[in-house]
Amino acid sequence: MLLLSKVLINLTLLAVILVLFYCYQTSNGIRWTHNDKENASTTKSRSFGQDVTTVSLPSGNDYYNVWCIFTKVASNSPMKRKFEIFAESLLKLSSVDIAFHVITDDDSKNVAEKLLGNILLSTGKFMKVEQNNSSRVQYYDVHELALQLADIVSVMSPHFSSKPGTYYSDALFFLSLGLHRIAPVEQSVAAMFDADTKFRRDIRELFDEFNSFGSQALFGLSPELTPVYRHVLYLYRNKHPDTLFGEPASSGGYSGYNSGVVLFNLDKLRNSSVYDSIMKKEKIDAMTEKYHFKGHLGDQDFYTLLGMEKPELIHTIDCGWNRQLCTWWRDRGYADVFGNYSKCDSETKLWHGNCNTPIPDD
Ligand SMILES: *[C@@H]1O[C@H](CO)[C@@H](O)[C@H](O)[C@H]1NC(C)=O
Ligand SMILES: *[C@@H]1O[C@H](CO)[C@@H](O)[C@H](O)[C@H]1NC(C)=O
Ligand SMILES: *[C@@H]1O[C@H](CO)[C@@H](O)[C@H](O)[C@H]1NC(C)=O
Ligand SMILES: *[C@@H]1O[C@H](CO)[C@@H](O)[C@H](O)[C@H]1NC(C)=O
Ligand SMILES: *[C@@H]1O[C@H](CO)[C@@H](O)[C@H](O)[C@H]1NC(C)=O
Repeated sequence: MLLLSKVLINLTLLAVILVLFYCYQTSNGIRWTHNDKENASTTKSRSFGQDVTTVSLPSGNDYYNVWCIFTKVASNSPMKRKFEIFAESLLKLSSVDIAFHVITDDDSKNVAEKLLGNILLSTGKFMKVEQNNSSRVQYYDVHELALQLADIVSVMSPHFSSKPGTYYSDALFFLSLGLHRIAPVEQSVAAMFDADTKFRRDIRELFDEFNSFGSQALFGLSPELTPVYRHVLYLYRNKHPDTLFGEPASSGGYSGYNSGVVLFNLDKLRNSSVYDSIMKKEKIDAMTEKYHFKGHLGDQDFYTLLGMEKPELIHTIDCGWNRQLCTWWRDRGYADVFGNYSKCDSETKLWHGNCNTPIPDD
């Protein structure tokens, strides 16, 4: 009897330690910075044959708005090198001035300032504000943004998050969905990138994609290049054996979207009643139920569903602009079809080293 209670006490202690350890892991941002999100990848190409509108792109002395997230660097120092590669490749190849919008926390901001300062000196490509160079990089505090977007997070989190994180690591996960509320109104279009990316072409060519946006398109994304949504849509696909949802893009299916690169028509988003009505809890609940969809990849789960329900709201960008390298799903029971998903015959214009995959040196 005594022995039994000793064993029980020890087991309880072990469980408590495990729970504490788990909380520590999730609260320190690892979930956001390289697990769930980065395991993702994408693919798809469909054309919807809709009419095309012209978005006014920056010209002349204007600059292009680039957003990225740079947080929790202290606990993830390889991130520094990744961010450096991202910023340097972007600026070196860019033929236009860049206004950098960095979402960060206090500690990471110092690191970002140092890194960007050096890159700035060597490339000179940030926008210049009447000799006041301090505005070339704008920092945004992650805690403030998290509060601002709490409504979006509470609607999305139950369906597109695998485990509870801290309130702001969850906010980071869904931040792109409310960028139009954060970005200053003078920004009419913008692009957001994961920091584990590397440019091989001029970002100006990516912004040219805005000229191909359909008249209703709010976002631009490239296909997911893994079978992750084949997996997530398993039940739905069983009930609908002929569906293209979850099929590889390389053979005309819809493999979902990857959010490593996102283009935003901010003007349209700010004033879209369609988008507002979709972002309601009832709508998201209904959409996820319809497809038996339980995701874990944050914003890109939402974009993927949006592309199924309202394809006219998303412009599909060429897969070469988000060439994902993660092969995690290949070794998780999808070896036979993985190649169909990762296939992207276009020239690689941007590498995406998701799930910590090294990026080629070229
Ligand atoms: C993501 O990757 C991490 C580490 O590689 C792994 O532990 C985790 O289970 C993966 N999660 C998903 C949803 O694939
Ligand atoms: C802005 O940068 C230029 C070089 O690009 C430099 O000559 C100038 O002194 C800087 N101005 C300020 C206010 O820092
Ligand atoms: C530069 O601009 C920032 C905000 O745009 C302002 O706070 C700062 O005082 C300016 N600095 C100079 C030297 O003009
Ligand atoms: C969008 O903006 C236009 C012009 O500013 C305005 O007339 C229209 O009512 C707005 N629509 C919505 C849904 O806010
Ligand atoms: C994958 O590609 C092969 C060869 O093109 C094809 O025979 C097969 O049906 C494809 N599988 C899927 C799931 O698309």
